[in-house]
Amino acid sequence: MHFPGNLSDYICDDYPWTASPLIVSAPMAKVAMPKLAVAVSKAGGLGFIAAGYHSDHLEDLLEEADDLLQEGSSITPTQTWEGTPKFLPVGVGFITWSASLEKALPSFARYCPAAIWLFAPPTGFKDLIPWVTKIKEATASRTKIWVQIGSVSDAVEVVNAIEPDVMVVQGTDAGGHAVARGASIVSLVPEIKDKLREIRPFPKKRPHVIAAGGISDSRAVAASIALGAQGCVLGTRFLASPESMIARGYQKAIVDASDGGVSTVRTTIYDKVRDIHGWPEGYDGRGLINKTFIEHIGGLSEVKNRELYREELSRGDEGYGPNGRLTTYAGTGVGLIREIIPAGDIVKSLREGADKILGRQHRSKL
Ligand SMILES: Cc1cc2nc3c(=O)[nH]c(=O)nc-3n(C[C@H](O)[C@H](O)[C@H](O)COP(=O)(O)O)c2cc1C
Repeated sequence: MHFPGNLSDYICDDYPWTASPLIVSAPMAKVAMPKLAVAVSKAGGLGFIAAGYHSDHLEDLLEEADDLLQEGSSITPTQTWEGTPKFLPVGVGFITWSASLEKALPSFARYCPAAIWLFAPPTGFKDLIPWVTKIKEATASRTKIWVQIGSVSDAVEVVNAIEPDVMVVQGTDAGGHAVARGASIVSLVPEIKDKLREIRPFPKKRPHVIAAGGISDSRAVAASIALGAQGCVLGTRFLASPESMIARGYQKAIVDASDGGVSTVRTTIYDKVRDIHGWPEGYDGRGLINKTFIEHIGGLSEVKNRELYREELSRGDEGYGPNGRLTTYAGTGVGLIREIIPAGDIVKSLREGADKILGRQHRSKL
């Protein structure tokens, strides 16, 4: 599917195998591996592999993606862009306060992923300047730069610092890490769009805006487009797919949960019990409420909570759910997820559903 419109502003042009509206799977640390990313890209979306906190296994991950892309696929790296030795129609996401740019560079040059997603710089968006400069050098500027942000001031700062190709506007409903003080995409996306127009009235380059946070079904995709986004990122929805690398107990907790605004919470305790330290000031993570959180607000010490967490690991799948202790990051859209279905089917049903709601007239503007 390709709908003409304002082509210079048509995001799917940059990812020629994709269809509108663009559906993207988030680079979820430890969860979004090549299988998930490739399934999403093969269905006409854009799948991100999570390098996550480090870049140690990047070469292996990209090699696996390359192999999977060539299995019975309608898109292969060589078909995608003529004349380039290698181009992977998937992206890779990094948590930049902890991942190593230097370690990742040789793999960028060898595989040239379609996009690199940068999140949570340690001291500010200027920290991303070396990432952008070196990624562009390594890939002859073929790799697009995506940055995930959570506020209007972030948007201004990032545009002034690095001019990203894509801004992922992450609302506070998002599962996993995000800025602790934020708004939902309902106000954040339009306010950022207005601000971008104000600071870049005649842009040579104004970044594409993609919405993230709490999007679980086609109604939310259509709503995001109506808000001014050019596509959607989903994390939690893809947790309930066979391609995501999560425990069965985690997946069951996602499908069982309802009323996401009440059954999830933003907190830092889910990192602390897992000994994950170093998130920059102002970030926390949204997950399903369980005993780790309840006892934390009840006054249980961090040390004891961590000890109980470690013991809980031995319960395996039984350690998840409201009466368990294991971290179950999820967004507020979790209540709309009722079944585990293949990632490619999620992409297609979201796109087709949103298409029906929006109609061709709207699509031509994406
Ligand atoms: C389990 C999980 C892990 C995540 N890990 C990362 C990550 O490593 N890097 C990142 O930029 N975002 C991460 N996120 C956030 C996503 O990029 C995205 O903003 C979020 O999933 C969107 O909200 P949703 O989950 O409601 O769809 C994670 C989200 C979840 C649910």
